Amino acid sequence: PRPGDAGPLAFTGIAPVSEEADTLAVPAGYQWTPILRWGDPLFASSPAFNPNRPDAQAQALQFGYNNDYLDILVDPRGRTGLLCCNHEYTNRPIMFPPTAGADEEAEVLRTLMAAHGFSVVELERRARRQPWRYVRGGRRNRRITASTTFRVTGPAAGSPLLRTAADPTGRRVAGTFGNCSGGTTPWGTILSGEENFQGYFRADPAARGSKRYGLTNTPSVYGWEKIDPRFDATTSAYANEPHRFGYIVEIDPSDPSSTPRKHTAMGRFKHEGANVRVDRDGTVAAYMGDDERFDYLYKFVAKRKYRPGKSAAARRHNLTLLTEGDLYVARFSGEQRPDGDNLGRGAWVPLVLDGESTVPGMSVDEVLVFTREAADLVKATPMDRCEDVEPNPTTGKVYVACTNNTQRGVTAGKPGPDAANPRAGNKNGHVIELTEHRNRAGATSFSWNILLLCGDPADTAVQTYFAGWDGPVAPISCPDNVAFDTQGNLWISTDGAPGTIAKADGLFKVPLEGSERGHVQQFLAVPRDAETCGPVIHDTDDSVFVAVQHPGEEGTWAEPRSYFPDYVAAGQRPDRGDWRGPRPTVVQVTKKKR
Ligand code: FEO
Ligand code: CA
Ligand code: CA
Ligand code: CA
Repeated sequence: PRPGDAGPLAFTGIAPVSEEADTLAVPAGYQWTPILRWGDPLFASSPAFNPNRPDAQAQALQFGYNNDYLDILVDPRGRTGLLCCNHEYTNRPIMFPPTAGADEEAEVLRTLMAAHGFSVVELERRARRQPWRYVRGGRRNRRITASTTFRVTGPAAGSPLLRTAADPTGRRVAGTFGNCSGGTTPWGTILSGEENFQGYFRADPAARGSKRYGLTNTPSVYGWEKIDPRFDATTSAYANEPHRFGYIVEIDPSDPSSTPRKHTAMGRFKHEGANVRVDRDGTVAAYMGDDERFDYLYKFVAKRKYRPGKSAAARRHNLTLLTEGDLYVARFSGEQRPDGDNLGRGAWVPLVLDGESTVPGMSVDEVLVFTREAADLVKATPMDRCEDVEPNPTTGKVYVACTNNTQRGVTAGKPGPDAANPRAGNKNGHVIELTEHRNRAGATSFSWNILLLCGDPADTAVQTYFAGWDGPVAPISCPDNVAFDTQGNLWISTDGAPGTIAKADGLFKVPLEGSERGHVQQFLAVPRDAETCGPVIHDTDDSVFVAVQHPGEEGTWAEPRSYFPDYVAAGQRPDRGDWRGPRPTVVQVTKKKR
């Protein structure tokens, strides 16, 4: 058979790609096409993309920057759908030229605020297995930005810890940012993790939580305090503004007029994302990582059970599930034996149970706003940066991507290796496979084993492990987002391989069952400086989708390092003037027709 001929999404793995290549590489027999690029107009009224003239109003009507979490929701008839996507952060030096003065720069800052957040965009295609196109002016199209109103839910909603001069109720927050990964719920909403929110504020370093959440009294990374006083939390009016970020947000993409929500019951930390599993008895659990060196793995178990079906009553009920429940943090024990006789054990240690704090000296709202402090007190296990944490829909086992932690066992005063984070100076990261007690989503204990110790097996200075597979594997480093296909195979996208194994980041498939378990193969590689996000695997549709984030990140406006995805040289595109730089883009990979 020719490549890609046997079965859905069959492919011959690609060879690793040089970190300097500005190409998107896919397997033989496949092709890639952009669906949406930064600046593409989403509404009938959207101005055309013009990176030479920052325009906040235009950007709020266009696709945002640095797409990360991605899902493609196919409508029942299969020819229309929705693209749902986070816009995590911006990179001012490569987006816009230098400006002449403070007024022009203020418009740049407002434009960057509008380039953050979230997009919902309708898609259409002629038939199944055909590439999608986005629908400009689609009925459900929506942009959410750093200014969109969110409603706060859960036990900390209205808490004095969340009140500011602009919102004395502590229940209405303007915007979301730092939205990294996420998850799509069985009831059709999108969960999105507010991750590096500390970079948007200046704050009093002596204020509660500042040290633990990395807030400092220096000019913020993004500089928004120059145009909006709420980003200066050193003032008494906005001292609590940082407390209003760092949550899991829930967005209903089917209703563009719905108010998105921030769920305090799921805790506040540098949320990478959240993925829900519904057990056979309707128990709803959400798995969540805090992406910081030596921070923790969490689980939320909803108080109410999932109600199946598409009725309006079921829908209304399911939209309440993440507003109330128990919050746990993981404590790992035991160890993995080399012979595979698994003795890895662990406990979900409660922080909130039945609406009450279980942490001595902390009230419920304190636990939910200063969740890291609470988890420190119960002696959770410090991890190597939990990124995406996702249950396998086929087996219920949970996969934890620990992206890397070069400080473990290296930096004085920091923890050394332990069973679940076994490598000192862990630059390549690892993946943990976690099995709940009796495979129940609400269990309070679990077993675990290491699935992968990532790296390049050709580098004998680094210990690697591929679930016992001893054949050739694709080198893989810094696992970040994960996804599953309908066969239960794990797909892993990476962020950081150029710095560790001198290869472009990419997307990898790993079988979890049978004789191929642990056989890592590479499906694609992303252009220069880019991180692979998404991914979305529609194997029965012969399609893979990725969000190509921060291409050319190390360049400047004047000297781009990437020309992805248009690869247009200077002066060739009158609508873009001399601008040639990269655009973060959602890409689909489909089988070539023969
Ligand atoms: Fe935005 Fe944890 O990666
Ligand atoms: Ca990530
Ligand atoms: Ca995922
Ligand atoms: Ca990352």
